[in-house]
Amino acid sequence: SSQCSTYSYEEYKETADWLLAHTEQRPKVAIICGSGLGGLGELLGDRNVFQYKDIPHFPTSTVSGHAGQLVFGKLQGRECVCMQGRFHFYEGYNIHTVTYPVRVFYLLGVETLIVTNAAGGLNGCYEVGDIMLIKDHINMPGFAGQNPLCGHNDDRFGVRFPCMSDAYDRELGALVKQTAKEQGCDSFLQEGVYCMLAGPAYETVAECRALQMLGADAVGMSTVPEVLVARHCGLRVLGLSLITNKVVTEYDSTERANHEEVLKTTERRTQDLQRLVSHLITNI
Ligand code: 6GU
Repeated sequence: SSQCSTYSYEEYKETADWLLAHTEQRPKVAIICGSGLGGLGELLGDRNVFQYKDIPHFPTSTVSGHAGQLVFGKLQGRECVCMQGRFHFYEGYNIHTVTYPVRVFYLLGVETLIVTNAAGGLNGCYEVGDIMLIKDHINMPGFAGQNPLCGHNDDRFGVRFPCMSDAYDRELGALVKQTAKEQGCDSFLQEGVYCMLAGPAYETVAECRALQMLGADAVGMSTVPEVLVARHCGLRVLGLSLITNKVVTEYDSTERANHEEVLKTTERRTQDLQRLVSHLITNI
């Protein structure tokens, strides 16, 4: 059943060993690029590119705005591995499939995971185009029994009951704030709580209001599963949300959440986000 379709340690290991045999790079940093934010992967020099479909056991991605390749290369002289295109639960993937790459990164020797995403702004002070440093998350699918750590626990990855109160690395957060100042991004840098919903439908007015009451500042359809698996195996995590649109919280509003606006905002801000990530990576 879908409840039991976990992967074995050997499968993750086969993927990692295949990659290690096909590239000489040994990145300490992995980056997962959100919808429309894969341009970061284009900045990498000395590239080794692998299509997801060519990597043993690797899932393949479907949504537009996602390239579906793994890029090893140097960003500002630092070796990293970048996922151009991530796997979303709403695409129909099993929750373990969504997080498959994260354990592969761990077995490659990666120590830090950087995740980016496009998100709707719930916090009334946020503007479209703001970048939100994720300080915490609400795992709404987890409330409903969809947690990637469900199932048999392999101790080689981590403990049965991992702590999540320190999921987002404080030092990396401080580094983001410092780098944002240096790069002239501090006027649109926010810090807040990311709430994941399964999607693919955007939220109703009542749902947006409920999420605001829960203390969420941004809402999206990704990231949290990857962060859970990353923290389970001890990776340090840095998360950045690009606020691509404001959620609709009034019944008489004529605004409608839509994928086109999301892509339009990512296009406008993708350069700033790239600059922020590529400059802070030198100090990790
Ligand atoms: Cl408004 N909602 C969700 N769930 N995900 C989003 C979004 C909104 N905007 C971008 N991604």
